[in-house]
Amino acid sequence: MAILITGGAGYIGSHTCVELLNRGYEIVVIDNLSNSSKKSLDRVKEITGKDFRFYRDDLLNKAAVEEIFRRENIDSVIHFAGLKAVGESVEKPLEYYYNNITGTLVLCDVMKKHHVKNLVFSSSATVYGKPETVPIREDFPLSATNPYGRTKLMIEEILEDLYNADHEWKIVLLRYFNPVGAHKSGRIGEDPRGIPNNLVPYITQVVIGRLGYLNVYGNDYNTPDGTGVRDYIHVVDLAEGHVKAIEKIMGKDFAQNGVLTYNLGTGRGYSVLDMVKAFSQICGKEIRYEFKPRRPGDIATCYADPSRAKEELGWTASRGLMEMCEDSWRWQLNNPNGYDDA
Ligand code: NAD
Ligand code: UD1
Repeated sequence: MAILITGGAGYIGSHTCVELLNRGYEIVVIDNLSNSSKKSLDRVKEITGKDFRFYRDDLLNKAAVEEIFRRENIDSVIHFAGLKAVGESVEKPLEYYYNNITGTLVLCDVMKKHHVKNLVFSSSATVYGKPETVPIREDFPLSATNPYGRTKLMIEEILEDLYNADHEWKIVLLRYFNPVGAHKSGRIGEDPRGIPNNLVPYITQVVIGRLGYLNVYGNDYNTPDGTGVRDYIHVVDLAEGHVKAIEKIMGKDFAQNGVLTYNLGTGRGYSVLDMVKAFSQICGKEIRYEFKPRRPGDIATCYADPSRAKEELGWTASRGLMEMCEDSWRWQLNNPNGYDDA
């Protein structure tokens, strides 16, 4: 029996493939490579010494997805595939709704036809919108401030409806906080196309000289140093959270539950300047930055209450800030142009 990994060539998907293979799980990957490189999967094989089949297909192509379910012995799915850039989603809402929502509908429909009803879905802390307080618990009110966030919220609701209609489904919604870091080998990591939107890849590209300086968006927030505070989580911790979610689905106690939702975060917040300081310590270089106005849509502080995942999945993030920075930095240093270097 195999786990189908949609979007397995991507940043979080490739790290999750490694953790699953290392624990002896069989996997099959589908990815259209719209935001990734096949080299990530070659390196997953290199790191683990294990082989698996990869289908370069689009989830929107139902016939292709059907074919995978016909050929492979799939019993569960981890669904990473989706478009994820907030700014782009504001400019191209139809693309985001079509890809993320329709892709999920096609996937679930084919799963249902093949009686595969175990699903782990990549949601995001973005579904909490602008939370009134922190730490954020899973039962906080949900809202979205942009089309990307709305696709996550809608998919969560679609999956709830699916379970309500058919109690055989076992679904885990994982709400990630801010994934950073890379595998220790320095062989796989985050490889954003063009100028990064997210803080950590931006910082590492400043350090290697690909970008001149960091724009720090806002220094007048109500936070200890005025800059935005986030819950950065090591991508390998996140990947391990998926292993725990799959184990939960396979476990006996799941039947009573249906749709389970977990925050995957560390429970600790760091500011933009904390991150700059930590990176500069790791790289031994000063990192140039300039304060700029707040980025529209940003909130001051966001960090998780991860206690539900601890109690019910037996999962906690174990890698600290320095390890996150060290591993992000090693990946960037060894692969200054991401997978294009190979
Ligand atoms: P990523 O872009 O690196 O990976 C997503 C993968 O999905 C890519 O390899 C892409 O080629 C593939 N893909 C997209 N649409 C597809 C389609 N229609 N058919 C087949 N493949 C398709 O992103 P990531 O950072 O690894 O994120 C994985 C998931 O986690 C996404 O759903 C994302 O929204 C969610 N998430 C990410 C973050 C983050 O900060 N990285 C935070 C919260 C949630
Ligand atoms: C962003 C997305 C969020 C998504 C998450 C993970 C927005 C508004 N939100 O979260 O929906 O789930 O990524 O992909 O895009 N910062 C700078 N300079 C930069 C980049 C960022 O100062 O060049 C600051 C931001 O203002 C923020 C912090 O760094 O305070 C983290 O930003 P980022 O890495 O983009 O993540 P989020 O905004 O938390």
